[in-house]
Amino acid sequence: MSSVQSQPVCAGLTRAAMFLVAVVQDGAEHDDAVRAFCADLAALIRAVGFRDRSAQLSCIVGFGSTAWDRLFGAPRPRELHPFREIRGVHHAVSTPGDMLLHIRASRMDMCFELAAQIMTRLGDAASIVDEVHGFKYFDDRDLLGFVDGTENPEGNDAAAATIIGEEDAAFAGGSYVIVQKYLHDLKKWNAVPVEAQEKMIGRAKLSDIEQADAEKAPYAHNVLTSIVDEDGNEQEILRDNMPFGEIGKSEFGTYFIAYARSPATTEKMLQNMFVGQPPGNYDRLLDFSRAVTGTLFFVPSAAFLDDVGTGSAIAQ
Ligand code: HEM
Repeated sequence: MSSVQSQPVCAGLTRAAMFLVAVVQDGAEHDDAVRAFCADLAALIRAVGFRDRSAQLSCIVGFGSTAWDRLFGAPRPRELHPFREIRGVHHAVSTPGDMLLHIRASRMDMCFELAAQIMTRLGDAASIVDEVHGFKYFDDRDLLGFVDGTENPEGNDAAAATIIGEEDAAFAGGSYVIVQKYLHDLKKWNAVPVEAQEKMIGRAKLSDIEQADAEKAPYAHNVLTSIVDEDGNEQEILRDNMPFGEIGKSEFGTYFIAYARSPATTEKMLQNMFVGQPPGNYDRLLDFSRAVTGTLFFVPSAAFLDDVGTGSAIAQ
């Protein structure tokens, strides 16, 4: 595991979160403003976070592939590329995004204040193309009614699954994150008997107990997203999904966000879900849930952000 200080990737689930995807405007002066913001971010988080330390405010910033080249140039993180759309039984779209801000706290007002301060600091340099305010729903359930997050790795396992080490030494302490905004057809979902819903997830709805392997359907979500490498080791990701929605628009969603040491792990899971494993044995959740965004970002180490304003991170 890396000794370089990471951003708080493993900060854990909170009651509130904001997900901001922004694009950086054209122009060298805008690039300078974003680099200067990187060095200022820690101080902004400290100032807002100190007003209620018990709220555990945290913020992670990530950068898309083309933005990386523009803002920081070479060297570049080894596995950073634009999110690849998947056209299988269902469609995983790829949508624009130069920067991701993932803000978490136990209180939405803290998230909101930090987001406002960040956008003031960025000024004209960046504009938001997607903004989602996520909330925890009862006992960590998604709006489909299932508990979401149970099998996430914890502690050292979470760090081992998400934080880059020697495999890309120049970017040790960094991580990759994929986000997708899903909209659910709740009317259609709620018409499905609970037993059939449980088969799609692979867990009991009320108790959250996992089904026995022999009982699981081949298309269960937790079958298709279980990835094992050639040595039999499970390849894990760290998810921090959040429900969101707008009643007046009949909008009910899950904001999917997954950190991983390599984007290939999450991409393999997506392939299994959208195309199927084997092809055609796809994730039935997608019959009720449509991905309307999809973007991949690199999350540099905290040390990189601190140094980048002075230009020293690039020379490392
Ligand atoms: C509509 C979007 C999604 C919803 C509502 C959803 C919901 C769930 C639920 C309820 C569970 C079971 C409890 C748990 O362990 O967290 C789960 C597990 C999991 N999901 Fe998702 N999920 C979604 C999308 C995705 C995507 C896109 C991926 C990966 C690309 C993914 C990867 C996983 C993994 C790795 C597990 C744990 C499987 C295990 O080891 O048991 N999910 N998800």
